[in-house]
Amino acid sequence: MTATKTEEVKKELDQLLQGITSSNQLMSEVVELLHERMLKYNWVGFYMLEPETRGQPPMLVLGAFQGAMTPHTRIPLNQGICGAAASGGKTVVVDDVSKDERYLACSLETKSEIVVPVFVRGKVVGELDIDSHFPAAFKDEDRELVEHCAALVGQHLEKSSA
Ligand code: SME
Repeated sequence: MTATKTEEVKKELDQLLQGITSSNQLMSEVVELLHERMLKYNWVGFYMLEPETRGQPPMLVLGAFQGAMTPHTRIPLNQGICGAAASGGKTVVVDDVSKDERYLACSLETKSEIVVPVFVRGKVVGELDIDSHFPAAFKDEDRELVEHCAALVGQHLEKSSA
């Protein structure tokens, strides 16, 4: 993916931000834009962190997404690439999911994946997960774009919970 394309999508995101009235709307629009404009982003979705409640462990819960329905609607923090990104508080890029033991399969076609945490006041509150049918689909410019999207959502959530 060329840097020019990711720059174009970032500008589209800026425009989109003008009409946003809620964080949920922002997350829906972000997944729609990335899924539509970035041809190798075959599944795009947010998982939001449900904190520990009444002895139940914290859980990543599927939120807005575009792509085929996934069997993984609730993921514990000690499972999957999703769990690793949320518990480590760091972006995880996997070029070949078949070689990563943490990987929880969503589609047989998935070859590579990126998961970027969303932060509010320095704490992980969720993450943006993207799967590709292409191996090593997520280059530096993709990582930058996805981190930019996750940061926009984090800022919006932070403002709305101020
Ligand atoms: N592959 C993820 C699970 C979520 S699906 O990709 C939508 C993981 O390993 O955590």
